[in-house]
Amino acid sequence: MPIKHLVLLEFIICAVSAGLPKPVLKMDAVNTKYLLRWNWTYSTSVNFTAQMAFSNTASYKDICFGVETYCDYSAHLDYSGEYYLRVQAETRGDRSDWAMWKFCPDADAPLGAPSELRVEAGVSMLIVSFKEPMAENGEPMSAVLSQNSMDPAMAFRLMFWTDDAPSQRQEKKLNTTAHTLSLNAHTRYCLQVQAFSDAFAKTSPYTLPLCTTTLGPTLFWNILFPLLLFLVLLGVFGFLWTRKRWRMFQVYALPSSIVLDSKSHQPLLVPMENTCPVTALVAMPTAEQVPPFSDRPAPAFPTARTGDRLL
Ligand SMILES: *[C@@H]1O[C@H](CO)[C@@H](O)[C@H](O)[C@H]1NC(C)=O
Ligand SMILES: *[C@@H]1O[C@H](CO)[C@@H](O)[C@H](O)[C@H]1NC(C)=O
Ligand SMILES: *[C@@H]1O[C@H](CO)[C@@H](O)[C@H](O)[C@H]1NC(C)=O
Repeated sequence: MPIKHLVLLEFIICAVSAGLPKPVLKMDAVNTKYLLRWNWTYSTSVNFTAQMAFSNTASYKDICFGVETYCDYSAHLDYSGEYYLRVQAETRGDRSDWAMWKFCPDADAPLGAPSELRVEAGVSMLIVSFKEPMAENGEPMSAVLSQNSMDPAMAFRLMFWTDDAPSQRQEKKLNTTAHTLSLNAHTRYCLQVQAFSDAFAKTSPYTLPLCTTTLGPTLFWNILFPLLLFLVLLGVFGFLWTRKRWRMFQVYALPSSIVLDSKSHQPLLVPMENTCPVTALVAMPTAEQVPPFSDRPAPAFPTARTGDRLL
């Protein structure tokens, strides 16, 4: 097409759209939510057409049409893609120029702050947990970023400070969404957390600060536990001591003059035995022992069997 004709064509297009100004666009993106917004203060009876294409020369596809002054592109753009978005205002018989917006989500969409920050106070520590930024489809943003990167795509920065020295802030880099901080007891700490990706050069805003006071050693640890420990040790030492004494008593050999009677040579002290024989004396005259017509008087008691010992 000759240049003359092109210029003429452009002139005609400009003439057609001269009446309506084009919308002023602004991309409101976070994670994988891409909301294109525009200002319109000229007239209420206007419809807007919002379109997208993969390149400036490709054919555009309609995404939104209506009176709303925004268009949600979230469901239509891949994170790693490059897109051309455009919006036009139209009244009956009049159209504005297209307002253009070039958009690459992985470069242009900022990371959202972590959410659901929780801090639980312990003895000289804080247990911190939070939820990482999430994509629109419910996937964690670290998974979305990892699709385009081999490195751990996302990490977190935990900033904390004591209430009485807010200017002395300490930082800790985390790669998990839960962490235990070892701190001083009975101290009020504030903390906040942000997500970041070195691979994508993205840093999220910090969460709102959350403050809590660490606990100290309790009554149990201060008084009851040492007391219990003392009692247990006392018990153990007492037990060991009596055992030692008992052993000494067992090992000590008595002199023979005490053990044996010098005259009868009968043992005076009987060594301790483990078994204890039972002596049963049963007075039960039988027919054999007491014949009915015997001259010999029946013994009053049966004699104890030898081998049994009277204790
Ligand atoms: C619309 O206008 C207001 C005030 O003039 C401004 O703060 C806002 O950023 C504008 N929005 C867009 C999408 O241009
Ligand atoms: C906007 O679009 C609707 C639906 O197509 C149509 O009924 C309405 O007349 C349009 N308004 C203007 C100002 O063009
Ligand atoms: C997380 O960080 C620790 C130390 O900072 C490191 O040893 C570990 O390999 C990291 N894990 C991952 C998955 O990056």
